[in-house]
Amino acid sequence: MGVILQIKNITKRFGGLTAVNDVSFDIERGSLVGLIGPNGAGKTTLFNLISGFEKLNRGSIWFDGVNITRFSPYRRVKYGITRTFQVVRPLKLLTCLDNVIVGCMSPRGKAISEDLGVNQLASTILSSVGLIDKARIPPIILPFGDLKKLEIARAIASNPELVLLDEPFSGLSYEEQMVIVDLIKKIHNEGYTIMIAGHVLRELMALVPRVLVMHQGKLIADGAPQEVVEEKVVYEAYLGRGKEL
Ligand SMILES: Nc1ncnc2c1ncn2[C@@H]1O[C@H](COP(=O)(O)OP(=O)(O)OP(=O)(O)O)[C@@H](O)[C@H]1O
Ligand SMILES: [Mg+2]
Repeated sequence: MGVILQIKNITKRFGGLTAVNDVSFDIERGSLVGLIGPNGAGKTTLFNLISGFEKLNRGSIWFDGVNITRFSPYRRVKYGITRTFQVVRPLKLLTCLDNVIVGCMSPRGKAISEDLGVNQLASTILSSVGLIDKARIPPIILPFGDLKKLEIARAIASNPELVLLDEPFSGLSYEEQMVIVDLIKKIHNEGYTIMIAGHVLRELMALVPRVLVMHQGKLIADGAPQEVVEEKVVYEAYLGRGKEL
């Protein structure tokens, strides 16, 4: 096993607002970790920092023992970090298959594409997320639940080690959420290290053995879901915003 990701004292400020405030934690290779916190807690910003979409003000990020703090998002994909977006971002005018093929053409995806053939690889990935029957249609006409699956398929296509899923359950019905839960379990069993930022707490807490809790940019708790929910700071962070755990 061993540690795959090390976050050391990272801080991100937007003007006067500190969106991520001196956050540190380690992620074990092959683990499945939740990241929760009320609206505006800093979850997406943290994912943006890990994936290189935002530059941090202080601290460092280490992946597989390499200091990637200054690496571009592209270079991080090459090292094996990929992410999905809270607001889904398919390439609307391409087919679903082509959306996945674009992921397969990224530096790490390409290596396996060359062995298997890019069409076959993309088709296998679409099958594994349950979208093979939608291969030839553009994502613009897909129901929202399928768009969330396509986001995950595109992320996997880059052949990552670490997958950051930003709000994979948001906007979905309970039944659709359960389909995504099963999909996440399946890809986790295939060996990926996964972090999931989320609001749908019941499903997320049942899915992950470890959860990080953020509030106002700070990491306020880290542990097993059953333990974390009993911590006063976590209760207050949610209650303070009128939310229930
Ligand atoms: N590009 C930006 N410019 C200025 N402020 C930003 C920017 N991105 C995020 N913020 C602010 O940083 C804080 C953290 O936002 P972030 O989106 O990371 O929270 P979150 O935990 O993902 O929230 P949500 O649960 O609503 O998705 C918020 O106050 C937000 O308004
Ligand atoms: Mg967010």
